[in-house]
Amino acid sequence: MKTLIEPHGGTLIQRRLTGAAREEALEHARSLRWLYPGDDALMDAEKIAVGAFSPLEGFMGQADLEEVLKSMHLASGVAWTLPILLLVDEETAADLREGETVVLAQRDDYPVALMEIQEKYRINPQKVAQGTFGTTDENHPGVAKLYAAGTWALAGPVMLLNLVDHPWRHLELLPIETRAEFQKRGWHRVVAFQTRNAPHRAHEYLQRVGLEVADGLLVHPILGSKKKGDYDNETILRAYHALIDNYFPKDRVFIAGLAIQMRYAGPREAVFHAIVRKNYGASMFMVGRDHAGVGNYYDPFAAQRIFEEFEDHEIGVEIIRFGNVFYCHACGSMASDKTCGHGPEHRVAISMTRVRDMLKRGETPPPEMVRPEVAEVLKAFYRAQE
Ligand code: ADX
Repeated sequence: MKTLIEPHGGTLIQRRLTGAAREEALEHARSLRWLYPGDDALMDAEKIAVGAFSPLEGFMGQADLEEVLKSMHLASGVAWTLPILLLVDEETAADLREGETVVLAQRDDYPVALMEIQEKYRINPQKVAQGTFGTTDENHPGVAKLYAAGTWALAGPVMLLNLVDHPWRHLELLPIETRAEFQKRGWHRVVAFQTRNAPHRAHEYLQRVGLEVADGLLVHPILGSKKKGDYDNETILRAYHALIDNYFPKDRVFIAGLAIQMRYAGPREAVFHAIVRKNYGASMFMVGRDHAGVGNYYDPFAAQRIFEEFEDHEIGVEIIRFGNVFYCHACGSMASDKTCGHGPEHRVAISMTRVRDMLKRGETPPPEMVRPEVAEVLKAFYRAQE
């Protein structure tokens, strides 16, 4: 039998307590200090524990952070592009000592993980911002979030007690579950599509190309926090169902949620997205124009070029790179600047910003931009806001 792609670093990390060990740990947790780091950090803790962030076993220490910022590798030499930090304020940090185990909790009655603090260190937020986002501008949503967090990092391995409680839980699958599903379907070459959006026709074009070259497609929308102005999860999922139910061969498309935050780190986040999807079992990953971008912070194709900075085997996932995708009236089809020879006067540019602007003005985006069934879902979103 053909096997799925190996997890990043070779082993799918599993740091989840079950049965009697979990009961004991829950009992022990009552005598420990409880921290409430918020859903973004708790989702990261969970993702570490279920292997989505393999080979990480905990929040990053200083050696890993510095190496990631400097060379896009962990101290162990494995490729990794984003800091995964647990940040607390000075007062909280002062109260904690290295060697102590703390509880990371969502609520008083809901502990998520235990974490052994192996290291506590101060970060330089400007340096982390520059290294991660390529800017220190606080208008960048990822930078703003970083600056609003504490300047002390707690590092150490996590052990999961409970999955994070969130309204989309039923739509999320763990890496072991997506892997089992792909095996069951006989999918070996799985292509993953990252998104934070409802689908427009350019997204659909990427997905169709993916379906053409792979055994199956994993549509993996981000369900964690996003910036103001992005669609809510319910709209995104309803829009996807409108697309899949009406246009795609259902048995070749698999949709599951991924509850992590969007960081808007452009190129570095593209590599991170590819690595995470590899852990879920995808051997191919699609990167289009301005992947994980925001505003004008990144060159639209920097998120593709960054992969050249690694040896192919370091990432291990085949990256499918797309030009700018649009509808071309002269071609009479969707196309990209890699496949179409006509001038801009024939092309209908497609971006969610354009779609959103039309919908806000009460206009219906043409079917070259958004499928009518999807446009209906988006219209309902704006109607509900009125
Ligand atoms: S992202 O922040 O998750 O990248 P979005 O959900 O809009 O945003 O995009 C999902 C994927 O589709 C990304 O790989 C992005 O580069 C790609 N994409 C979106 N619009 C286009 C387009 N017009 N042309 C080419 N690729 C696109």
